[in-house]
Parts: sequence; C-alpha cells; structure tokens
Amino acid sequence: MNHGALIKSFLGYFGGNSETIRIFKSPGRVNLIGEHTDYNGGFVFPAALTLVTTVVARPRQDNKIRLIATDLEVMVEADLNNLSVYKGLRWGNYQLGVADELIKAGYKVKGCDLMFEDKVPLGSGLSSSAAIELATAIALVSLGDGSYGRTKQIDMIEMALISQRAEHNYVGVKCGIMDQFASAMGKKNHAIFLDCRDLSYELVPIELEGHSLVLSNTNKKRSLGEGKYNERRAQCEEGLDILKKVIPEAAYLRDVSCSDFEKYKHLLTDDVIKKRVEHVVYENQRVLDSVEALKEGDLVLFGELMNQSHDSLKNLYEVTGIELDTLVEEARKLKGVLGSRMTGAGFGGCTVSLVENSMIDEFINTVGSAYKDKIGHDASFYISEIGDGGREVEVRA
Ligand code: GLA
Repeated sequence: MNHGALIKSFLGYFGGNSETIRIFKSPGRVNLIGEHTDYNGGFVFPAALTLVTTVVARPRQDNKIRLIATDLEVMVEADLNNLSVYKGLRWGNYQLGVADELIKAGYKVKGCDLMFEDKVPLGSGLSSSAAIELATAIALVSLGDGSYGRTKQIDMIEMALISQRAEHNYVGVKCGIMDQFASAMGKKNHAIFLDCRDLSYELVPIELEGHSLVLSNTNKKRSLGEGKYNERRAQCEEGLDILKKVIPEAAYLRDVSCSDFEKYKHLLTDDVIKKRVEHVVYENQRVLDSVEALKEGDLVLFGELMNQSHDSLKNLYEVTGIELDTLVEEARKLKGVLGSRMTGAGFGGCTVSLVENSMIDEFINTVGSAYKDKIGHDASFYISEIGDGGREVEVRA
C-alpha cells in the first residue's frame, strides 16, 4: 500500500488523526551462502531484500501497546508494565518480545499503536520474523526515547542483538544473529560478509554481470519452533565438546579448520554428529571462497559453491526435504543456471538460484511446472533485488 492508503487503514483501526504518525521499514533477507554457521561463530553472506515489513506507528498517552496486521486483522493489546504475561501469543510475540527486551536493555518504551504490513512472505525462510522484529525495534526506540529519532542514529547492531534475544526468549528459537543483522544493516546492492564471532563485517558490492538471483518458494510453511533447528544447534555443541579435547582453544566450531576436521574426525564416533560438524566446517570455508569469487567476478565458481552448499545441507546437515531438493534439482538441469541452493534454515522455505537474465522466464516456467507435477502445489518465484536495512521513511500522505 502507498502511504496514503496505509494511513487511512491505520486510522480505520485506531481512530484519531495522522499528525504524529511515523513510518518505519525493515527488510527480509536472502542468504547467499553460509548456512547454519552463524550460531557456530562462523561466517555468513546475506543480503537485505527489497521485500519489507512496514510499521505505521503513533504514540499513545498511556502505557498500552496495541498491534494490528493488515492481513490478519486481529488486534493485540498489551500493558507495557507487564509484558511477560503475553508469551505464547499466536501473533504479536515478536513485537512484544522486542518491547520487553528493549526495556530490559534500558530503553524507554512508550505506549503506542502499531500497524504492520508484511511484504516478506511469512514462513518462507526469507526472515519475515527478523523484518518484523527490526521494524518494531526501530519504531519503539524512535517513538519512546527523545534522544533517538529522526536525526540521531539508532545503534542498529544493538537493535539486531535485542531482536535476536526476543526470538530466543519469546519465540523459543535459539537462532543465530544473521537474519536480524541483515535486516538491520543491509545496504542496497551489497551483501554483508559477516563474522558472527565478533560481528565485524564488510559490505561487498554484488555485481552479477547479466545474471539475477531468483528466489523460488516451496510454499511449504515451516516453523522453527518445532525443535529441529534447536536440535541441530545442540548437535553442533556436542561435536564441539568432543573436538575441544584435542583443540582446546576452539571456542566455536568455526575455530575448527577443514584440516583439523580431517585429522580428528575419527573422534566423532556418532555418525550424525560427525555429519553436522563436517557441514559447518566446510560451509565456513565456502563462505570465504564465495566472497573471494564474487570480488573477482567469478560467477561460475560462486555457482559451484552454492551447489556444494546445498548438497551439504541435504546430505550432511539434513535440513532440506523433497520440496527444496526438487526446486534445486530442476533448476540445475537448465542452461544458464550457475548454481542453486536452499537459503535460510531449511525444512521448507525458499531456494536461491543464480540465473542468466535471458533464461529467467524459462526457469520460472520449467521449474514451476516440474515442481507442481512432483509436489502437487505451486511454487512461487521472485527476482530478488537487494535493498537497504531498517530505517524510518518520510511520511508522504
Ligand atoms: C535461520 C536463523 C539464522 C540462521 C539460519 C541458518 O534463518 O534465524 O540465525 O541460523 O536459519 O543459516
């Protein structure tokens, strides 16, 4: 919706006038490579999308926070003095979790009405949740504390960390920092090469020379709350504990090199744990190689690394499934597709493929119909454009 329509809709839900309304946006992300490495202190390479969550926000005079989403039309009302009682809401968890964590971190959060328009497809593995969290965080901080706002910079890395804590404590998913960081810190036409151990990062220009990143959505909804994500994380910790006996300085699996792994893999006697560790160790190296490849304009090598990443997520980390694998297999059969892999946590969600521009229509038609034949429902496709991270925008009524 344009701003005029958003404001009209906001006033329809909450009444009053538009004088103090402000608008904030935060994007979803695509991860180019580096999956399930973030919570292992490793490297990731995500980019913010131009698909965003928009929040229309207006301060209130009391201590209530009211939330509504344009597509759900369920109003959630909460008391800012007593946020912990709202855990487990079907919708509103992310926002109230962020409010709670902001307060715990010492931010002044004031009563407000917030309307959400989500353009990041929910449950698609494109970080719709991080988009909601970051948009909420910057709206609440901007409205709540006079020292922040239009002119002063909000500490966006801190917003990402606070949003991650909301996800851990409210939603129960022990996610890494990648999604929130990308949503907070993204930059148009750049990917973020992020070291998740200390959050140092580099913005790498993405120039794809006649190719595009095509997102293919399995339209299989996934929920990470089901526990498979946390289970993977625990398996990595188990593997690390074993390897620490021979590499005591390893604080994360990221500190285990490929040659360390080959030297000590016999110690990982549980085959599942060994496979998980192998994925993380080699995936980290693939991120480093991909960043180099893209800097040198070597799209063919980057495409090969994407393929290796998917195969490892399929065979070693075991987070793909028939829907993601079908999209990837069908994509790879086509000329002009340099690489294809799942992106995000897995278990459904999206793939990202590097496709020659002249082949995009054929890609969508051919992969789309093969997917429908095999899986029984449609996939959806988006050409991904890389956009900016979370921000306030001028209200243009
Ligand atoms: C989800 C999590 C991230 C990351 C990815 C897998 O998106 O939120 O922190 O672990 O899965 O790479």
